Amino acid sequence: MHSFLRRGKDLFCEGAPLGEIAARFGTPLYVYSEATLARHTRVFDEAFAGTEHLVCFAVKANPSLALLDLLARHGAGADIVSGGELARALAAGVPGERIVYSGVGKTVAEMERALDAGILMFNIESFEELEALDAVAGRMGCKAPISLRVNPDVDPGTHAYVATGLKTSKFGIPFASAIAGYERAGALRHIEVVGVDCHVGSQITEVAPFVDAVSKIGELVACLRGRGFGIRYLDVGGGLGITYDDERPPSPAEYGRAVRDAMGVTGLTLVLEPGRNLIGNAGVLLTRVLYVKESGDKRFVIVDAGMNDLLRPSLYDAYHAVVPVRDEGRAPFVADVVGPICESGDFFAKDRELPEVGQGDLLAVMSAGAYGFSMASTYNSRPLAAEVLVRGERAALIRERGTYADLTRGERLPEFS
Ligand code: LLP
Repeated sequence: MHSFLRRGKDLFCEGAPLGEIAARFGTPLYVYSEATLARHTRVFDEAFAGTEHLVCFAVKANPSLALLDLLARHGAGADIVSGGELARALAAGVPGERIVYSGVGKTVAEMERALDAGILMFNIESFEELEALDAVAGRMGCKAPISLRVNPDVDPGTHAYVATGLKTSKFGIPFASAIAGYERAGALRHIEVVGVDCHVGSQITEVAPFVDAVSKIGELVACLRGRGFGIRYLDVGGGLGITYDDERPPSPAEYGRAVRDAMGVTGLTLVLEPGRNLIGNAGVLLTRVLYVKESGDKRFVIVDAGMNDLLRPSLYDAYHAVVPVRDEGRAPFVADVVGPICESGDFFAKDRELPEVGQGDLLAVMSAGAYGFSMASTYNSRPLAAEVLVRGERAALIRERGTYADLTRGERLPEFS
């Protein structure tokens, strides 16, 4: 469910016509629906009603301060993977005790900041990291609350780049070493063991991988409790998929039921780290057609957004629906929708049937709210796109368009030149 619906010929975001928004703010432009994000956050939260739980939004999916602020006001915490994400979460008013810190490569400086902020827990991914954190906490005269991120060796059935819970992946501590890892953690003076964590992948469209992972982790919790560890949190990561094309992922309610049934242990606070499920379908990328060119038996619709603005099709061969913002009911044609970047991998759609479009027409690349702007770059020296948030009929700029001055900020000639 999202709030990008057609009224007559025109596509709207909630009560605001996207054509007018593009005319006002320019393109390429990310547009988010506040109502969709709020609704998804509420529905996800309700899926765990009756169970102690904390929803920590995966900031990497979309780190916009305005969106984090909205999520924080709806009670969400944050799942962070860097000092930068910590700074953003704190700036948006997410309280430290609702922040969990994941990621394989936390630095000493990042650990210090997170301890200072009093975060809920560090999800630890290696023994060396555990010892580094113990040393940092010791120097700061405190105890660091931790979970071990355990790798349950589950195949999430997704693109290889976003499968994280296989034993061949760089993430987590092997399941077979988990008990030894906890014994080691328990012996460290400045570490407090508070939970168990896993995350098996992203854009998962069945419940089975979650059920497999959570039941394995639940057994581990029971075993750890038997050994005297006071496990309070079970963090099951993120990963619930969305519909980009014709996928039929479980609803948050089905997912919630499956996770709770699979736990097999009680008296825990569940921690969830959804990213895509909350924001993915709450955003679109607006782009204008620059040229249409026929080349041999191919047709290319060349638009003003590129792989630097939305990398997912290029990097993962990901499907995003591409629709005209004003649908004049023209007959369909087949085309590649491509950007201006000097790479053949710069495309949004290949051999796609869409209503015939021409120069100046506006297109919406759908389901671009998650891992869209957050993975954008200035490749080909293209300033970053602007971002807009819509509430009802109102549209507000939440990030200014990048400028040429931004592109060279901080650059200088070497003093020996
Ligand atoms: N927790 C951890 C530890 C993660 O690594 C991730 C995502 C999440 C939570 C959130 O997963 P989600 O609920 O959004 O699936 N750039 C890729 C996705 C990479 C996901 C990385 N980790 C894409 O565009 O599909």
